[in-house]
Amino acid sequence: MNISIIGGGAWGTTLAQVLSDNGNDVLIRDINEEFIKKINETHKHPYFEGVIPSNIKATNSLNEALAFSDVIVLCVPTKVMRMVLHEINTLITNKKLFVNVSKGIEPSTSFRVSQIVAEEINPLYLEGYVALSGPSHAEEVILRKVTSLVAASTDEALAIKVQHIFSNDKYIRVYTSDDVIGVECGGSMKNAIAIVSGVASGMGLGENARAFLITRGIKEIIAITQALGGKMETVYGLSGIGDLIVTASSMNSRNFQCGLKIGQGMSVSEAEGKVVQSVEGIRAIEAGYEIGKKYKIDLPIINAAYEVVKGNLNAKEALEGLLKRSLKTEKYW
Ligand SMILES: NC(=O)c1ccc[n+]([C@@H]2O[C@H](COP(=O)([O-])OP(=O)(O)OC[C@H]3O[C@@H](n4cnc5c(N)ncnc54)[C@H](O)[C@@H]3O)[C@@H](O)[C@H]2O)c1
Repeated sequence: MNISIIGGGAWGTTLAQVLSDNGNDVLIRDINEEFIKKINETHKHPYFEGVIPSNIKATNSLNEALAFSDVIVLCVPTKVMRMVLHEINTLITNKKLFVNVSKGIEPSTSFRVSQIVAEEINPLYLEGYVALSGPSHAEEVILRKVTSLVAASTDEALAIKVQHIFSNDKYIRVYTSDDVIGVECGGSMKNAIAIVSGVASGMGLGENARAFLITRGIKEIIAITQALGGKMETVYGLSGIGDLIVTASSMNSRNFQCGLKIGQGMSVSEAEGKVVQSVEGIRAIEAGYEIGKKYKIDLPIINAAYEVVKGNLNAKEALEGLLKRSLKTEKYW
């Protein structure tokens, strides 16, 4: 089958290789001419050492990408997602299945990508929506290291279709879920907690402190997920705790790296600038803060991270604030 990927950075290119390994032809749409030229002329990508399969092509034409396939994989940073979908809606002429692999919530609206798709794409052209998420560093998947994901949709048949498109019996195993909200919330908010974990490491705090912030961070991810209508048990799965395990303590995670630099004293913009690829966690912190305010939920770690991101507190002051809170019983629901 033909498959189009919108966004040919680290993850888009890696998934293109998965899809090619699974017998599909892939067309990537990106706006970076250097990436396009390198993929088409040398079958390489600037972010990776090796060669990618030759049936992966790239283009800067959105029209071409839409004409190529009825399965559209969305893999752009979520800050440009609405703009990209708006552009797609002006060009689309037949029904497409949208598979979103980007991880983020729009801070100004608290919208998940499924909601942005529903708002921007004419329902006449929307076959359906699947969120594909889980613990998956591109750096490992590009080397075909064993990885599992979850495909979530309110339409079970579409979740199963995506499960089969992306799975193989060599290195990728995809599960299905009916909890789109839970999968999208876990995938987005784990980036916020990964930044916090990085900040703790950057400040020179120990493993105990990181375990404290990650574990209590899970409670906040659950609270956000439930406030938006998702299920707590989804947070316990691949897209929640699974992705948090992989993100919150690995130098392969650009969110962890960004937090590390903030903890070492860099400003947020300096730290973001040091990480080459997209850092979704800063916007996730902003989105989490807004959701907490809107739904009146107690999110002490995310709120403290928000004050650091906005420059109102430094990391040390934010930590002192957390430790001075009144003592509590440990409760997760
Ligand atoms: N890298 C990973 O390991 C990984 C794994 C799972 C999910 N994700 C998620 O995937 C998303 C993308 O991450 P990434 O690592 O590929 O980021 P990246 O920064 O490597 O790539 C983003 C790509 O989008 C392109 N782009 C920007 N605007 C565009 C537009 N208007 N049209 C087409 N392309 C455009 C950029 O040129 C770039 O190539 C993020 O939400 C991230 O959280 C990443």
